[in-house]
Amino acid sequence: QTADSLYVINNFAQKFFTEQLLHTDNGKAIALSYLRERGFRDTVIDKFQLGYNPDTKDTLTKALLANQFNAELLPKTGLVSVRNNNELVDNYRGRIIFPIHNISGKIIGFGARIIGKNDHAPKYINTPENELYVKSKILYGSYFARMAIDKADECLLVEGYTDVISLHQAGIENVVASGGTSLTTDQLRLIKKYTNNLTIIYDGDNAGVKAALRGLDMALEEGLDVRLVLIPDNEDPDSYVNKVGAKAFNEFVAAAKKDFIIFQLEVMLREAGGDVTKKSNVVNQVAETLSRINRVEDFTKQQDYIRQCAGILRIDENGLTTLVNKYKR
Ligand code: GTP
Ligand code: MN
Ligand code: MN
Ligand code: MN
Ligand code: MN
Repeated sequence: QTADSLYVINNFAQKFFTEQLLHTDNGKAIALSYLRERGFRDTVIDKFQLGYNPDTKDTLTKALLANQFNAELLPKTGLVSVRNNNELVDNYRGRIIFPIHNISGKIIGFGARIIGKNDHAPKYINTPENELYVKSKILYGSYFARMAIDKADECLLVEGYTDVISLHQAGIENVVASGGTSLTTDQLRLIKKYTNNLTIIYDGDNAGVKAALRGLDMALEEGLDVRLVLIPDNEDPDSYVNKVGAKAFNEFVAAAKKDFIIFQLEVMLREAGGDVTKKSNVVNQVAETLSRINRVEDFTKQQDYIRQCAGILRIDENGLTTLVNKYKR
């Protein structure tokens, strides 16, 4: 019941935002020009139903109330907020709006980005958790990506909304975004419905690597094959594809794609240096990771990894197998 009402309100809001972006003077001057400057063309602006909430107190709120939507429900949507004196006002004032669709294409919430830079406000505001918007289950772009993921038998995972949109514009459509938080089991299961192959494309900075590593154990347990691409030079997929173009981006990804387990091992070995105790910790960690590949159908895969990792660590393969089996229990 509530869910249905929330869908109706979200749909109304999306149309309002798009109208504001494309057909008002302020929308065009402030928001559309910003999107165009960033390189977004009309095709993706339309496809992803981007919009704009004008920088006024309550233009959207008034439109919602004029359309007889349940005023009690409005704050739940995150579109409006309640002021001290119980007054309802727009929550996403002066922001670019990214509607968030579920896998069937229905709008379950919004991401709202500030235009330009402002140190005093968060860059993005998102819909609060409600009957439709359950953050741990959302992968931005899944509706637009699902057929391409199936066709490529690979899902690319990026951090942000703009990464998804720019990659679509570059012809890369098998891509979803986690929204900058670490992956959840529900998100991985959604991916697993379409493919076993997950390629994580994160910023090459420390935060990006850490975020990627956090998802690994879970992904292995879900039986996914995980590969990693780190984008260099403080770029993200959006800025990088806009800088080098679609062809070079694809070539970079193909060349930089690394098996995740091997990547993790190399990172840990580098950190251990010549320290014997640290190296022995690395061996244990690798064994623990490999023990998570424990589905019957993945037995050969596990054997394969044991061989490779033992080689990299320069330790005995049978010894590593014994250790892996110990962690299985
Ligand atoms: P642009 O700066 O517009 O290119 O966006 P971005 O996606 O590159 O932003 P960034 O890499 O900083 O963050 C990645 C993702 O994390 C975003 O797309 C958002 O989903 C989320 N995120 C970033 N900043 C915030 C924030 O201030 N609040 C919330 N709730 N989410 C954020
Ligand atoms: Mn498939
Ligand atoms: Mn980053
Ligand atoms: Mn980014
Ligand atoms: Mn970015």
